[in-house]
Amino acid sequence: MNILVSQDFNKLVELLNSQTKDDYPYVMDYFFKTDQIDSNSYCLFGWEDNNIVATYAYRKLSFKDYMVYWSNVFSKFNGENFNPSIPGINQWYSSCQWVHKDYRNKGIGVSMDARKKEEIWAQGGDINYANCRVSMKDYHLNTLKYDESVELGNFTNPSGEFKDYLIVYKVAV
Ligand SMILES: CC(C)(COP(=O)(O)OP(=O)(O)OC[C@H]1O[C@@H](n2cnc3c(N)ncnc32)[C@H](O)[C@@H]1OP(=O)(O)O)[C@@H](O)C(=O)NCCC(=O)NCCS
Repeated sequence: MNILVSQDFNKLVELLNSQTKDDYPYVMDYFFKTDQIDSNSYCLFGWEDNNIVATYAYRKLSFKDYMVYWSNVFSKFNGENFNPSIPGINQWYSSCQWVHKDYRNKGIGVSMDARKKEEIWAQGGDINYANCRVSMKDYHLNTLKYDESVELGNFTNPSGEFKDYLIVYKVAV
């Protein structure tokens, strides 16, 4: 697979928004919307057979700024906010991981995650953190080898769905 670094967030948004809810069961991450990104925001596109079959996005973002957003979400929906802290000074956030369903379970998710971490360390990042649903905890800790997980919070949305979130992080090697 050919992995290319890009700053074409229009393409990323278009790709993720064109997936069915089954293939990508998330709304577009607030911090990677085209009106939120900045010059330190990047995406990875994984190419196979002349098509993009995998994505990732990463950006420099202090965990403090990240928590301002989530604290508002938890308070809006009367949820629990565990207000975690994570180590690091030059902190980088990653999200928007997707692998085309025809290409899953071949290690593409692991390769994309490893390349993303390498790019972050090369930019001087000392920590990579990500948000994950509790159901994806084992994938992050065991498959993607993040160092730690900490509870972020939870809430019940207006449709009655309970949503619980963790932060996982990896310290630069
Ligand atoms: C999650 C996703 C990116 C994995 O991509 P992938 O290329 O199939 O992953 P890999 O082939 O690198 O790794 C597969 C391994 O992860 C494991 N895994 C996948 N989803 C898992 C989950 N929810 N919980 C635990 N392990 C999981 C598989 O069992 C497999 O383990 P094995 O190698 O021991 O058999 C892909 O399923 C996807 O795009 N899902 C929809 C979007 C999504 O959920 N993104 C992640 C947001 S946190």
